[in-house]
Amino acid sequence: PGLLPVSLRINGHDYHLQLESRVSLLDALREFIGLTGTKKGCNQGACGACTVLVDGERVNSCLTFAVMHEGQEITTIEGLGQPDNLHPLQAAFIEHDGFQCGYCTPGQICSALAMLKEVAQGDASLATSDLTKAEVDLTDEEIRERMSGNICRCGAYLGIVDSIRDVYE
Ligand code: FES
Repeated sequence: PGLLPVSLRINGHDYHLQLESRVSLLDALREFIGLTGTKKGCNQGACGACTVLVDGERVNSCLTFAVMHEGQEITTIEGLGQPDNLHPLQAAFIEHDGFQCGYCTPGQICSALAMLKEVAQGDASLATSDLTKAEVDLTDEEIRERMSGNICRCGAYLGIVDSIRDVYE
């Protein structure tokens, strides 16, 4: 009783679920599908750990219901790269120590990708390798401001800013 059929398209795969309408997108990803790369921090929209991409825009998945996202393209950290073929942002976070414990990192990377696309004015492709400096020109302050919804309790902000800057410089 109370279960709704819902089809979600995540990282290019279709998932057919039966969910209560109150299940958050975050819980659907983690508990029902097993995509645990997306993290639960505050579960109330304050930390950004749960950030995923919905049709290319960053969304706090703890704040939205899974059943609202039929027909949309959802991308999680698992969809961005693989261990032997990292997304440029993933590689940059490793190279520049953009984390300490790593708990906030999936959200940071999804948020950074959407942020760079916002600044580059809606490049529809998920690849950031084509975000040249001509398209993206941000000061460190601007990066911090635009990434202020993603909290890092370890305080790895210097490395996070360096990582993000690295993919377009
Ligand atoms: Fe969603 Fe903190 S877990 S914003």
